[in-house]
Amino acid sequence: MATRILSGIRPTGNIHLGNYLGAIKNWVSMADSIDETLFCIVDQHALTTAEDASNLYENTRLIAAAYVACGINPDKSYIFAQSHVPGHTELAWYFNCVTPLGWLNRMTQFKDKAGKNKEHANLGLYSYPVLMAADILLYKATHVPVGEDQKQHVELARDIAGAFNNYAKHEIFTLPEPVIPTQSARIMSLRDGTKKMSKSDISDYSRIHLTDDDDTLALKIRKAKTDMEPIPQVKEGLENRPEAKNLMGIYSAVSGKSIEQACLQFEGQPFSAFKSELTDALINHLEPIRRKLTLLLDDKDELDRIITRGATRANILSQESLSDVKSHLNLYPKPKGL
Ligand code: ADP
Ligand code: TRP
Repeated sequence: MATRILSGIRPTGNIHLGNYLGAIKNWVSMADSIDETLFCIVDQHALTTAEDASNLYENTRLIAAAYVACGINPDKSYIFAQSHVPGHTELAWYFNCVTPLGWLNRMTQFKDKAGKNKEHANLGLYSYPVLMAADILLYKATHVPVGEDQKQHVELARDIAGAFNNYAKHEIFTLPEPVIPTQSARIMSLRDGTKKMSKSDISDYSRIHLTDDDDTLALKIRKAKTDMEPIPQVKEGLENRPEAKNLMGIYSAVSGKSIEQACLQFEGQPFSAFKSELTDALINHLEPIRRKLTLLLDDKDELDRIITRGATRANILSQESLSDVKSHLNLYPKPKGL
């Protein structure tokens, strides 16, 4: 069976190290062994949270450029904006009609985002996982590489695929596999090691942006929360020390050393010494990405070419899937010429 990846990031605020290490880096490493790879900028998802929807134009450009700067080849993979392919929202409607409310009530991201304000949360935020299932299944994706926080949504997409197949009495959709990185699946906030690094955190110091210059990056690491203990000799010594564990995990991901090796290297040292090595390793790793990102952001024609190429392919695949889906729904077929 041909393999296909679909994944996406919301164009909300500044793309950060968690998005890169938890998601995009994995996309890049998988891309060569997969037949077709599609990477979406899921702008309609961003509309579910008003505070994120104010600067969609700039943020969409930023995410598209970041995909390429992080190593996605735009002439092999397809990069496109969700709102340029109307099939996503159309398929989501058909899925709405086979998805029990009980399934959505279990989604932890909705509970986190709606908080105590559930009665006032918008319907889009609640049905967000159905639109995400449509993003994935519209392309009959076989693999969905995401950070750990999205695993529950990909599992729901599998359930929705099954529910729809049952309803249509046809195996229209195959079940997509979530692919979660073994390391860096969850990068935590630099201010609180128990919270994930997120674009929506109000503090800029909680995350490292891919656009941060060297000085900002160094300052954020210097200010990053730690504890009073020195670095342990073995990995197990990081348990119950969320901030230390997170910084070690980041060091390991960007230096290419294992956590065990890093512990041995810094054993017994205070965090100040470790933080300066961490800063150097981050700068080494992120500087070429930032350079490429800045160049692309200045090249509107090239960015437009990339997302036009992506949307053209995505629309072809989308129309194929939707005509298959609709042919099983007893809808009145379009008269010729319509
Ligand atoms: P955010 O939560 O910062 O708004 P998104 O929800 O748009 O980011 O996430 C895009 C991708 O990045 C998803 O695959 C998600 O799992 C991954 N991701 C987001 N934050 C992190 C993190 N802190 N650690 C690891 N992966 C993350
Ligand atoms: N829900 C994902 C997030 O918040 C983003 C997303 C939307 C996505 N559609 C997707 C990820 C499809 C993978 C596949 O991170």
